[in-house]
Amino acid sequence: MSDIAPTRVLEKAGASVLVYSTAELACQAAADRLAETLKTAVATRGRAVLGLATGSTPEPIYAQLVAKHRAGELSFAQAVSYNLDEYYPISPLDPNSYRAYMHQHLFRHVDLPAHQAHVLDGTVPEFATAEHAAQFDRWISEDGGFDLQLLGIGRNGHIGFNEPADLPLEKALALPTRLVELDSVTRADAVKQFGDASHVLHRALTVGVAQILAARSILIVALGTNKAPAVGLSLNGPMTSNVPASLLQAAPGKVTWMIDEAAASEI
Ligand code: F6R
Repeated sequence: MSDIAPTRVLEKAGASVLVYSTAELACQAAADRLAETLKTAVATRGRAVLGLATGSTPEPIYAQLVAKHRAGELSFAQAVSYNLDEYYPISPLDPNSYRAYMHQHLFRHVDLPAHQAHVLDGTVPEFATAEHAAQFDRWISEDGGFDLQLLGIGRNGHIGFNEPADLPLEKALALPTRLVELDSVTRADAVKQFGDASHVLHRALTVGVAQILAARSILIVALGTNKAPAVGLSLNGPMTSNVPASLLQAAPGKVTWMIDEAAASEI
């Protein structure tokens, strides 16, 4: 258990919602949860399978995990990781790639073996993307599925790059890993990363909703007032493909939200 206490705990839409007074505390608690899950899975099954996210939200979480590793408290030697998404097309050497992000924030600092750290490949030929995505889903399933899937949330409610869409619920819940078009909100938010709107890629590979929901536990972290509307809709509103994070309501008992007061303001 984490020593970091939330200021309040809500049970909402089948999820536990842990609200922290600051973003920093929410990230510390999230890092503690990840580390505990990794250690428990390794102790009980000899390995841990982690679904990882990128973006600004997990940066302090990875910094905490690196600090735990450096302090000799945490090893990734028996961990296997699968990242949620990658821009397409992109080279892993491009500093805007999520492979580069993971290298910078986690992989190069810890003892996770290279062949156990999987990121969707932004260099596969376009005709092979469907096959690559299906293969990624197969690897995750053959590895036994995720012990924990870490998620952030987009301002439009996306999880991974599963963007808002008009789909029957049954179809939305079954979305596989695949190549997608990015939403205009997602592209606008990516300008700060790519430097200029004209440089923002329009497509990405993303792990699908079905694989996320199949995780044994899901930890979603949301920080700041700009995430409050999406958090509110995901927890107060109905399950709908227009708010992809609301689809987490289909996994009752498995989802923990760790959020700061600012992100909790519309629950
Ligand atoms: C990234 C990902 C996205 C982000 C989301 C929030 O791997 O899957 O869904 O989690 O866009 O991004 P930040 O944390 O930058 O606000």
